[in-house]
Amino acid sequence: MDVNPPQENQGDEAWATDARRDLQALVAEVRRVYVGATPAPEWMAMALVAGGHVLLEGVPGVAKTTLVKAFSVAAGCGFRRIQFTPDLLPSDVTGTTVYSPKDGQFSLRLGPVFTQVLLADEINRAPARTQSALLEAMEEGQVTIEGATEPLPQPFLVLATQNPVEQTGTFPLPEAQVDRFLFRVVLGYPTEEEEVTMLHRFSSATPPVSTPERPATAGPARTALPLHQVLSPERALELQHLAARVHVGDAVRAYVVRLARHTRSQPGVYLGVSPRGSLSLLRAARARALFEGRAYTVPDDVKAVAVAAMAHRLVVTPQADLEGVEAHQLVSQALEDVAVRQP
Ligand SMILES: Nc1ncnc2c1ncn2[C@@H]1O[C@H](COP(=O)(O)OP(=O)(O)OP(=O)(O)O)[C@@H](O)[C@H]1O
Ligand SMILES: [Mg+2]
Repeated sequence: MDVNPPQENQGDEAWATDARRDLQALVAEVRRVYVGATPAPEWMAMALVAGGHVLLEGVPGVAKTTLVKAFSVAAGCGFRRIQFTPDLLPSDVTGTTVYSPKDGQFSLRLGPVFTQVLLADEINRAPARTQSALLEAMEEGQVTIEGATEPLPQPFLVLATQNPVEQTGTFPLPEAQVDRFLFRVVLGYPTEEEEVTMLHRFSSATPPVSTPERPATAGPARTALPLHQVLSPERALELQHLAARVHVGDAVRAYVVRLARHTRSQPGVYLGVSPRGSLSLLRAARARALFEGRAYTVPDDVKAVAVAAMAHRLVVTPQADLEGVEAHQLVSQALEDVAVRQP
């Protein structure tokens, strides 16, 4: 027996295998309602264990809301939705103090951000001040309402949607704010076959089994989706702790840094991946390893998450943009350019 095996070849640990089983169950449950090859349920599960947030891009009617609701039910997590509009105030997100004339007291009314799975619909429709109220909450895990600091529930996962087509009257998220999302997931149209499957599944006459009713503020989404709870907030937090235990070898760490640095001088890239971006890339790679049931990361984990974790952080040069080059292609190019090296 090799007495000193290279760290990245250590055997799988039981806790990682258990984590994989739970995460696969979560994804399988969401896939009972979401039809399509887009690995959106997988990205959401990885974001949950990585403690990150997801920017969901897609035209109307591609199941963004359906996905997020299904996810919250299957994860057993509280769900709220905020529709972002041009007149939405920061306090509509975070909360405010209200005066009660009856007893002459001010009391704190917590806003809809106080939940576990938050659907921030059409985040680019609200002005910058309101967007940044949410993004601050995402970054800090707490909210300050008129001087009082309130911690957010845990886990806390924001799924923010953006419609990539309709841009009139929107306030595009500044780069610094986009950088705060762990993944950007682009939801495409289903294939012909998938769309037919979807029609089969959802146009049947028998009403689907509904989930037990819970208080709107505390419980998962109320939905008629035929779904079961497979996780709990406690287990989700445990999975976050396990993801943090996933071993990262020097080769993987060096690979992440070289990828990030490469984008900073890459042709076609105006603004490359920030150090926050390389941290996120590593966090995502760990979550991916756990998702695969491994207690250690390999360079393939980095490759697998690179586009979802990096493309939204790149700003394409105007020239490349004119030529129709997209950020995800530049990330793929970076993966080709940068070789994995042993330290
Ligand atoms: N891939 C899919 N799998 C399952 N159902 C789908 C899929 N695509 C669309 N649907 C169905 O289409 C309907 C609309 O979906 P949903 O409301 O989730 O879309 P949306 O992306 O949130 O739209 P909007 O941008 O208008 O809010 C739902 O009934 C949903 O079940
Ligand atoms: Mg919707």
